[in-house]
Amino acid sequence: NFTPNAFVEEQVAELKEKLQNDKVVLGLSGGVDSTVAAVLLHQAIGKNLYCIFVNNGLLRKNEFESVLHQYKDMGLNVKGVDATDKFMAALEGISDPEQKRKAIGKAFIEVFDDEAHQLENVKWLAQGTIYPDVIESISVKGPSATIKSHHNVGGLPDFMKLKIVEPLRMLFKDEVRRVGATLGIDPELLGRHPFPGPGLSIRILGDITLEKVRILQDVDAVFIDGLKSWGLYDKVWQAGAILLPVNSVGVMGDERTYEKVVALRAVESTDGMTADWVHLPYDFLMKVSNDIINKVKGVNRVVYDISSKPPATIEWE
Ligand code: XMP
Repeated sequence: NFTPNAFVEEQVAELKEKLQNDKVVLGLSGGVDSTVAAVLLHQAIGKNLYCIFVNNGLLRKNEFESVLHQYKDMGLNVKGVDATDKFMAALEGISDPEQKRKAIGKAFIEVFDDEAHQLENVKWLAQGTIYPDVIESISVKGPSATIKSHHNVGGLPDFMKLKIVEPLRMLFKDEVRRVGATLGIDPELLGRHPFPGPGLSIRILGDITLEKVRILQDVDAVFIDGLKSWGLYDKVWQAGAILLPVNSVGVMGDERTYEKVVALRAVESTDGMTADWVHLPYDFLMKVSNDIINKVKGVNRVVYDISSKPPATIEWE
């Protein structure tokens, strides 16, 4: 019997007591969890909360700018750091999914650490860890923990002797969303689909280049905007596009083309552990497929992923 109002009241009081006048640093991701954690902490300690929002260059199209703007509008004390070049360099030539995750995790820690060091006298690291993350990182046999190395939990270098504060660590996702609503966070932000930390890097099969990121961002934007305008976005738990490492033959006018294939994925789920593919309307798929091929240079074929989890995973990598 969870009541978000009571949770906020209790947590704000507890955080004030615990953190006193200490400075706290928090990494914002653009996702629901870190945003709710930030707003909750901001309510408790105001300007003593320092947020860092890193652009790894692998976010959705225009996301870094628009979400940073939103954070500022919310009154958060946030610094946006565009580290695209660093991440691209770290990923150069890497095709293996786990190596991608490692390279991104390492680059993130370096960027975050550099930024955190510029703040003086920080005592605490705040994180938007939620209950399922806690469970996943504890249970050695948890599927994602062993099969894919998620890097949402922990992961700061030892030499940053910061104490950890995780105000959401006992909450499930739906509770986090309700807390966010109580805190007055924009419902659109709270309703966002989950998005993996390594971002589009694990949706570009094979090695990562800026050009591939550009193509996938454009494809993804057509798909996601389409879901929104057809009123389908909220009926889907998570959706995205995958850039495949193959070219296929097509025809455009009198010309033969030989261009990239993209896959679209949309799933229903409650926690991401199991998932069913969504039976999106054929009319919608037809429209989106045409829009993608007409608007996104370099793509001449769209396929729809009709695999469920298990045995397939939600992401392709
Ligand atoms: P899978 O592909 O394992 O995905 O079925 C389940 C959920 O986890 C997300 N995911 C990740 N999230 N870092 C993250 O923060 C990762 O490395 C990662 N890999 C998968 C995925 O988007 C889905 O929501």
